[in-house]
Amino acid sequence: MTPILEMRNVGVTYSAGSLWGKRTFDAVKNMNLQVRAGETVGLVGESGSGKTTTGRLCLGLQKPSTGEVLFRGRTFGAGEKPRLAAVLQHPRTSLNPRLKVGTSIGEPLVIQGAMFDERRDRVADSLHKVGLRPDLAARYPHELSGGQRQRASIARALIGSPEFILFDEPVSALDASVQAQILNLILDLQSELGFAALFISHDFAATRYVASRLMVIKVGEVVDEADSISLFHAADHPYTRALQDASGLLAG
Ligand SMILES: Nc1ncnc2c1ncn2[C@@H]1O[C@H](COP(=O)(O)OP(=O)(O)OP(=O)(O)O)[C@@H](O)[C@H]1O
Ligand SMILES: [Mg+2]
Repeated sequence: MTPILEMRNVGVTYSAGSLWGKRTFDAVKNMNLQVRAGETVGLVGESGSGKTTTGRLCLGLQKPSTGEVLFRGRTFGAGEKPRLAAVLQHPRTSLNPRLKVGTSIGEPLVIQGAMFDERRDRVADSLHKVGLRPDLAARYPHELSGGQRQRASIARALIGSPEFILFDEPVSALDASVQAQILNLILDLQSELGFAALFISHDFAATRYVASRLMVIKVGEVVDEADSISLFHAADHPYTRALQDASGLLAG
């Protein structure tokens, strides 16, 4: 079966500096990744390791400097438009503070040309999927709790029935108890809806909880890779072990 998303030997080089001292920096090096329908792949690494850059590549928001990113076996721009969505660390990037939550959630449908009644029904359905009452659609983002706001961003991501969802640090701004609820929600939604997902975080424990396969990234390079069960135990790679320690996974 063709993976929903695939990266083949992908590299991203940023250049910075002036005419006199041009420097290049490899933010992602030789990345190979496959995400299949119904599967969550986890990408863990410290700050600046290239996680968000990898996520942007998956959404087609960034072009690789080398290699190729394929959606259902085709490069972006070839074939039909991929159904992609993203849930990011701060819901304010997906929920406009000046718009009612329901309007933001239904916005992707406006672009598709859906009429008001259809939008209202699908927004209610999407809110239901993420465990929010339909009347919350009439509130503004600041009238929701942090956990409810993140549920609303997930509702917005789900509204176009995406085949692939990028989660970039979706629980990093939340309290531990709310984090667990959101991680469980992601797991439940995936088994119900069957989308492919890339879950990105600096938190080893959170990533392992939702992902079936983990890739550990350090300065743009994958340094360790295994299924979540084998990486539960103290890893051989010192960098992976440091990430495990930092997330308290092996404490006690
Ligand atoms: N547009 C850009 N131009 C130049 N360098 C960039 C650009 N975007 C990111 N970088 C650099 O690429 C590296 C990887 O950045 P990236 O945002 O992918 O890291 P990250 O793993 O998501 O970090 P964090 O956990 O802090 O979000 C960093 O060193 C960053 O400074
Ligand atoms: Mg990032």
